[in-house]
Parts: sequence; structure tokens; C-alpha cells
Amino acid sequence: MRLDAFITSQTMYSRSEAAQLIRRGRVTVNGGHSSRSDSVDPERDTVAVDGERIIYREHVYIMLNKPAGFICATKDALTPTVMELIPPHLRRKGLFPAGRLDKDTSGFVLITDDGAYAHRILSPKSHVEKEYIVTLRDPAHEGYKALLEEGITIDGGEKCLPAQMTFTDDPRVIRLVIHEGKYHQIKRMMHALGNEVTALKRIRIGDIVLDPHLPEGQCKEIDIT
Ligand code: URA
Repeated sequence: MRLDAFITSQTMYSRSEAAQLIRRGRVTVNGGHSSRSDSVDPERDTVAVDGERIIYREHVYIMLNKPAGFICATKDALTPTVMELIPPHLRRKGLFPAGRLDKDTSGFVLITDDGAYAHRILSPKSHVEKEYIVTLRDPAHEGYKALLEEGITIDGGEKCLPAQMTFTDDPRVIRLVIHEGKYHQIKRMMHALGNEVTALKRIRIGDIVLDPHLPEGQCKEIDIT
């Protein structure tokens, strides 16, 4: 792979910016200076910009603990997006949030540049579990469990897939596992039960659990195996 193409694929730098960095001697390959058309082996060579190594990855997977107030979009003229929370060293072209949480929902958002992986976790056919901590206006009823397990019909007549609910120590706080991602799904499910969601946090996607030590607003890179 050409050196300039390598830098472009792994960072936010454009091809011409990469060329300029190389020309100005800010790029080293295995400690020495190179030209833009030199070949690098992404797996073996050590490429650094201003002494900071660019570690090659085919794709990047980022766990974000989203705070309320940010939207899951790549850009928006008015509202801050989750992309603004990605630290510079994890930024690269093509990143997007794989799935949407509402602006006022917090918790786990997976950000990646791997479209095939995102499709797998988002496709309704995959039935990937998403687990939430749901805070309600009124205490949850024992009867909710069976209704949720049967599949709630939400406004507009849409039927939801069976969902699994567990109680916590606080009767106003439940854990809910859903297998799809309809628009405002949990809020509409709780509304159909005569209740209201006052806070919502996603804590798991499939078998990836939100790191409980990851502060709100922070990201970390994760391995997807
Ligand atoms: N269900 C909702 O209502 N909102 C979310 O953000 C996620 C699930």
C-alpha cells in the first residue's frame, strides 16, 4: 500500500494533506523518512506522524457512553452529535453510529466504519438483543412481564417482538431486553402500558456490555471478535 494511501485510510487526513505531511518530513516509516509513493506493509511497518504511531486497523469499533443531549447522526447544523465526542486519536473517515438512541437517551452507542458489521447488529432479521435500564413515572406492575413477553402493540398498530423485563430494587426502574429498534420503541411500549419513561439508558448490544467504568461522554476502542 502506498504511504499516502495508508495515512489517508487510517486518519482524517485527505490525500493532499497526507502528501504535505510527508513532504514536510513529519512522517516516518520505521524511524526514517519516506516519500509518498513508497510502499508500506500495514501489518509490519511502523508509520508515525509527528512521532505518534498510526496503528493499522481494517475497521474501528468504538464504545461510547452517550450523555443525553447528543443525537446519533454524523452531522447536524443545530444539535451536537455523538461524533463530536470521539477523541482525535480514534477519528477516521467513514465512522458512523450503528443505530440510534433518542437525544434524551443515554448509554451505549457503537460507532464504527464497518458497514457490514453495523448491518448485522441493526437488521431486524438478526434479532440482536438490546438491553436498557428504564426509569418509569409510575411503579412497574407484575402484569407488565407477561404483556411484554406476548408482544405489545404500540400506537399505529405495530406489534413488537416479545421483550423480557426484570425488576430491580426500585419499583420505578426496570431492565428491558428488546430485539428490534423501532422508532421511540421503549417509550411507545411503556405508553401502551399506561406508563411513561422518565429516563432511558442502553447498557448492552448483543453480548457487548457497556463498560460500567466508562464515564458519560467518553469513548473507548473495543475489539469485535
Ligand atoms: N427506545 C426508545 O424509546 N428510545 C431509545 O432511544 C431507544 C429505545
